[in-house]
Amino acid sequence: MRSSFGKRSTAEVVTEGIDLRGKIALVTGVNSGIGMETMRVLALRGAHVIGTCRTFEKAETACASVSGLTTPMACELADLDSVRDCAARIKGDFSQLDIVIANAGIMALPKLEQAHGIELQFATNHLGHFLLVTSLVESLAEDARVVIVSSEAHRSTPKGGIEFDNLSGETGYSALRAYGQSKLANILFANRLAKQLEGRATVNSLHPGVIGTNLGRHIHPMLAWTLGLVMFPFAKTIPQGAATSCYVATAPELDNVSGRYFSDCEEKAATTFATSEQLADRLWTASENLVS
Ligand SMILES: NC(=O)c1ccc[n+]([C@@H]2O[C@H](COP(=O)([O-])OP(=O)(O)OC[C@H]3O[C@@H](n4cnc5c(N)ncnc54)[C@H](OP(=O)(O)O)[C@@H]3O)[C@@H](O)[C@H]2O)c1
Repeated sequence: MRSSFGKRSTAEVVTEGIDLRGKIALVTGVNSGIGMETMRVLALRGAHVIGTCRTFEKAETACASVSGLTTPMACELADLDSVRDCAARIKGDFSQLDIVIANAGIMALPKLEQAHGIELQFATNHLGHFLLVTSLVESLAEDARVVIVSSEAHRSTPKGGIEFDNLSGETGYSALRAYGQSKLANILFANRLAKQLEGRATVNSLHPGVIGTNLGRHIHPMLAWTLGLVMFPFAKTIPQGAATSCYVATAPELDNVSGRYFSDCEEKAATTFATSEQLADRLWTASENLVS
């Protein structure tokens, strides 16, 4: 089914007429870029948004900057204790979650950095969200929607997709391939969780587009400038960049759609690695071991 929205639709346009009053939405990484706009628009449509950031102070400032009902919380995704604390607080303070948007992310760290011995992009973009979302499964409402923000960068990964024998990054590190691997992990996680929650909640992943946000902060300024020039015709504004997240989280026509990958508010084919059930199962087991 084709949606009536596309690349230039904004988050406000795709949610027009949708009433989210009474719904609780969790969005990670709300102090910047797409996450902040996603929170703003979900709150505008009446949702109570739990907005998480690395620190409570950042979350408090971000939440105070938008109109509507919001609750700030700290969730440093690279610190598993912080993620566990956040999940426990959500379970304590909210009876259920209707929307979860795993949005926060980092890209292309020039040098290898680690958290808990794991390469930092994988640890932040995938493992932190894996722990947060799986810790909250019992809180999901009957018709809940989980949205995992991935990227077209999932097409550019190490050989085999996920380097299970090099999740530390210590036996070879490429900034962009490590980002691609973490974004492939996002899709595999979404697909595997979709299977697990079949008939209960939907889980989908997406590429938001190419948007000038703080995500590029680790890219060398000259390269960023050149990329900016090349990508300019394809680039989206931040309101357009938040549209696919808001569309997948709220569109009535997606009530029973799960385990799919979206871009520009349309379903799109992901790579063979991304749709491999074997790879998804293996990643799930490895992730469980790493967070336990
Ligand atoms: N922009 C694009 O062109 C593009 C393209 C494809 C996919 N995406 C994806 O879209 C999502 C949002 O990115 P964006 O473009 O909006 O980037 P952004 O402006 O840099 O926002 C990223 C958010 O993630 C947070 N974050 C980073 N590391 C974190 C950690 N360890 N714990 C908790 N929060 C953390 C950031 O917090 P701080 O500000 O405190 O670091 C910020 O709030 C990401 O998943 C990204 O991979 C973006």
